[in-house]
Amino acid sequence: MKYYLLGDEMKVAVFISGRGSNLKAILEAEGRNELGKAEIALVVTNNPIAGGLKHAENYDKKIVILDSKNFTDKDEYDNELKQLMVKNEIELIVLAGYMRILTTSFVDYFEKKIINIHPSLLPAFPGLDVHEKVLDYGVKFSGCTVHFVNTEIDAGPIISQEVVEVLDDDSPETLAERILAEEHKLLPRVIKNISESKIIMINRKVRIL
Ligand code: GRF
Repeated sequence: MKYYLLGDEMKVAVFISGRGSNLKAILEAEGRNELGKAEIALVVTNNPIAGGLKHAENYDKKIVILDSKNFTDKDEYDNELKQLMVKNEIELIVLAGYMRILTTSFVDYFEKKIINIHPSLLPAFPGLDVHEKVLDYGVKFSGCTVHFVNTEIDAGPIISQEVVEVLDDDSPETLAERILAEEHKLLPRVIKNISESKIIMINRKVRIL
């Protein structure tokens, strides 16, 4: 599988629900011309008070707030999202702390065009409260994963991972902080690689050329 861009640039939408530190890292990378052919065209949130929106504003990015509270039906919500992506010719969707589960029909429509960042070494510790679970289990290494999104939670083909050592005196907060620093480097790098068609996938095995 290769990415063929519609134009010179690859239009990217970043979905957030909260703090948006990964969004900030992506925007900073774009500002340093380190995002390859990717252009952050749109920032989308389901949460009107998401802290991360201030980063989008600082970089003059188009913001769309689709308040999930105004929708009772998930399919209707994701259908709005889909129209928005199509209208803006979005070629890659980046989930960066987006806390809603996408419907199967949305995921199927944008097959291999949605990526997510997760703060563990998947397939270990999917889901929520990751750092607590990592510390309770006693693993010695954790990290972060960027993967393609499929219809199972945190289970799509893995694109890239970074390893972070778990220290004896770590709390969920200290571990999260060190992993987050790696997330901020990993996610822009993957977006760049995708925009430059350097990602191939055979079955579920992803190779970066
Ligand atoms: C990150 O830890 C990311 O891995 C997870 O949600 C968190 C989002 O943080 N999916 P931020 O909103 O980017 O600061």
